[in-house]
Order: sequence, then structure tokens, then C-alpha cells
Amino acid sequence: MIDTHCHIDFKDFDRDRDEVIRDAAKAGVDRLINIGADIPSSRRAFKLAGDHANIFATVGVHPHDAKTLTPAFLAEMEKMAVHPKVVGIGEIGLDYYRDLSPRDIQRKVFIQQLDLAARLKMPVVIHVREAMDDALAIMGDYIGRTAGVFHCFPGTVEQAHHVQKLGFHISVNGVMTYKNSKMADVGKYADLERMLIETDCPYLTPMPNRGKRNTPGQVAAVLLFLAHLRDMPAAEVEKITTRNAERLFRLVEMFG
Ligand code: NI
Repeated sequence: MIDTHCHIDFKDFDRDRDEVIRDAAKAGVDRLINIGADIPSSRRAFKLAGDHANIFATVGVHPHDAKTLTPAFLAEMEKMAVHPKVVGIGEIGLDYYRDLSPRDIQRKVFIQQLDLAARLKMPVVIHVREAMDDALAIMGDYIGRTAGVFHCFPGTVEQAHHVQKLGFHISVNGVMTYKNSKMADVGKYADLERMLIETDCPYLTPMPNRGKRNTPGQVAAVLLFLAHLRDMPAAEVEKITTRNAERLFRLVEMFG
């Protein structure tokens, strides 16, 4: 399995990061994609990918931190992005739920980073919360020029089908296991051929451990829950979602 969205560079893992990576491998999670969320975490993700054969990185600035993106860092991102272990630009997007950066700046920074991804022909990892209409309007200009995943898919089954038909992937995580979660319907009914699994650790721990620290190894629980929802053998869901991730992030082409 691949945890396609984790944040093991965060300080939550400072005391036992190597152990967490080993435990993930023991749980069958042999590759991790550590997602950059701001300037320091993109640098840390880059370093982790350089230090560990089975860790890949993305670099990008989250909508919460959009106001911190500078031209100098955009140039630095581009330099990091050409490294073979950097497999995408993200996480980028729009978050109108918390509004930690002004919305016009969020939109501008989202577009700047989409432009970078399109120019470098790299996939994007998209974070959207309470902003799907604006996000889709912006993404409309990039169809055919970028691939990517709407991570922790925040919408309905209909919206999932819509973005999947446009060529994008969606990813699901421990939120599916929460009571009355609309993500459970997405996991059950959206197209599995454009679906990825992730943890978003240290957040969004699957039940029954909600509230405790999440780890990449728990993507195994996400897989089992997804297989249960779809009434499919876990091995088959694993094969399909792993292949989807390998294709989107070009893990096989580059790394065999
Ligand atoms: Ni994240």
C-alpha cells in the first residue's frame, strides 16, 4: 500500500519518526508520500524524501498559508520539484471554512502553483474545503494540462463523479469511518479507477481511535474499510488503488 497523503515531517513525529516509518512497512504500507503544506514543511518533506528510499515528497503552500508564499519560494519550489523524489505540487487549493488567508490571495496563490505544476507537467494535490465551486472554476482552465487528486474528498458522490470525469482522482481516508460521513458514500459509489487512499496523518485517525495521533500504517485500516464498503476483497482494492497512485505520481516509471 501507499499512503498518498501524510505529514510525518510534523513535530508530532519528532520523538519516534523512524519507528513510525518502520511500523508502516510492517503494516504493509511500503511507500509514503509526504505532503508539503507550507514553506518549512515543503523543505522538510524534500529532506525526508532524500533520506528515505520509500518516501516521496510534494512541495507546495496550503491555502491556510497562502499569504506566506513569496516569489523567492516559488522559485525554490521549482528547484525542489525537479528532483526525482518530488512527485507533485501540493497541497494547494482553497479553504473558505477557516479563511486563514484572504480569499483573493488564496485564489491567486492556487493559480500560481497550478501554473507551476502545468509547466513542470506534475500532478497536483488539492485541498478544498467549503470552496468547491470556486476550485472547479479555477481548475477548469487546467483540464488536460494537469492531473491531480482532490485529497480528503470533501464533496458529494455527484461531485466526485464530476471531478473524476474531468480526469482527476479523489482520495479517501479515516473520515469514511466517522458517523454519518458523506465520504463513506463517496468511497462506496465513486469510480475506484480514479480513487486513492491516504491517512492525512497526524490527523483524521480512523475509528475507533479518532482523536489520537494518526500514522501512515493506519492506511491499512482505511483500505479495509473501503473494501468493506464496496463489498470487494481487500487485496483487489489494494491492487487498484496502489496502481492508481503509481500512475498518477509516476512512481513506477521513475523508480521501477
Ligand atoms: Ni494534508
